[in-house]
Amino acid sequence: MDIYCNGAKEINISVTENILSKDDVQKLLSAFDAERKEINISFLQADILPQLLVERLYLAQREKLCNITVYKRYLYSYLYTLGIQSRFIVPKTNQLENIRKQNLDCKEDMNREEIEGFLQEVFFRYGYDYRNYEIGSIIRRIKVCMLRGRFKAFEEFKKNVLENSQSFEELFLDFSINITEFFRDPEVFETIKKDVFPHLSTYPQIRIWCAGCSTGEEPYSLVILLKEAGLLHKTRIYATDINPYVIEEAKNGLYAVSNLDNCINNYRNAGGEKNFLNYFELKGDYMKVREELQKNILFFQHSLIGSGIINEFQLILCRNVLIYFNQQLQQATIKYLHDSLDISGFLVLEKSSGILQCQGTRYFDYFDRNNKVYKRR
Ligand SMILES: C[S@@+](CC[C@H](N)C(=O)[O-])C[C@H]1O[C@@H](n2cnc3c(N)ncnc32)[C@H](O)[C@@H]1O
Repeated sequence: MDIYCNGAKEINISVTENILSKDDVQKLLSAFDAERKEINISFLQADILPQLLVERLYLAQREKLCNITVYKRYLYSYLYTLGIQSRFIVPKTNQLENIRKQNLDCKEDMNREEIEGFLQEVFFRYGYDYRNYEIGSIIRRIKVCMLRGRFKAFEEFKKNVLENSQSFEELFLDFSINITEFFRDPEVFETIKKDVFPHLSTYPQIRIWCAGCSTGEEPYSLVILLKEAGLLHKTRIYATDINPYVIEEAKNGLYAVSNLDNCINNYRNAGGEKNFLNYFELKGDYMKVREELQKNILFFQHSLIGSGIINEFQLILCRNVLIYFNQQLQQATIKYLHDSLDISGFLVLEKSSGILQCQGTRYFDYFDRNNKVYKRR
C-alpha cells in the first residue's frame, strides 16, 4: 500500500492488494483522519473491503472531497449498493487489447463437449469444479462473460481464461448467482419458526448450517427468529458459500436501505414479532447488522462439491443452490446433506425444489411438503 501526501492539500493512497491485516486497516484509517482537505484513493487489487473501511469511506465522502477509484467490478458494485460513489476502471490486459472492438455479438454456437472439456481444464487449473453444473446455465454465463470481454471466438476466450487468473475471476463471478434477500419466501421462515424450532429447542446445543448463504441475509434472518424464540444463546450457525467475496460481504453485515420496505414486509410475513429495525443500526444509505446478531455465526468459504462432512447439524438450509446443479450432482449433494445431519435433523430446500426427482426420498421424508422442509430418514 502506498500513501503519498501532497503538501497540506491532498493525500493520495494507492492500495495494491486485498486488505487483509488489521495493521493495514489501521494505517488506512489514520490516513483518513489526517487534516488534509482532499483524499484520492485507488483500489487496484481489492475485491472487497472490511467493514471498518467501508464505513470510513462512506463518511469521508460526506465529510470532505474523497475520490475513489476501483479496478475490480465486484468492489465497484458493492460500494455502489451501499451509496458510495467510485470510478470504475476496466484494467487492460494484453489479450484484451488485441481483441477487435467492433462486432460485439457473440454469435458462436457452443458445443457441449467443448464446454465440458473447458470446465475440466478450469477444474485442473483453478480447483473450482463446475463440471456438473446445469450445462444450459453455464453456457449462458459463458456467453455473458464473452460479450463483456468482447470475445468473438470461444477458443480465444478459453485461452484467455486458462492463462490469466484475472479473467478466470470474471468468469467465476458470472457463474456465481448471488441473489438473495432477508426472509426470502417468508412462509418458509414462518414454518421453521412455528414447526421446526420446537424440535430444536429440546437440544442443549443447536447447530444450523446455511449452505450457499450468499451475502448473509439468510443466516441473519434465522438469527433474528432464533433470538425472538429465545434460542439464540445456545445456537451456532455455520454460514458457507463457494464464493469468498460474498462471505466477506456477509461478515461485514452492511446492507442497502433501498430494500427496507421489502425486508420489513418479509419479516412480518415470516412471523417477526418486533421492529425489524431494532436489529440494525441505520447509517444513511446503508444499515449495519447489530453485533449481538453476528456473534453466533461462523462465516467461511466452502464448496458443497468434493468436501468432507464439516459437522452434524440439526437443521440445514440449502436453498436456491441445487437449481444450478445437474441431476447427478443434485443427488450427490442430497446424500452429502443427509450425512451432515443429526439422526432426526431437518433439511430446507428452495420452494421450487423437487427432491423426488433426485431420489431424495431415499434419504428424506416430507415434514412440510409446501415449504419443502424435510426430515432425515
Ligand atoms: C441464489 S444464491 C442463494 C442464496 C440463499 N441461499 C437464498 O436462497 O437466498 C446461490 C448461492 O449458492 C452459491 N453456490 C453455488 N455453487 C456452490 C457450491 N458448489 N458450494 C457452495 N455454494 C455454492 C453461490 O455462490 C450463491 O451465493
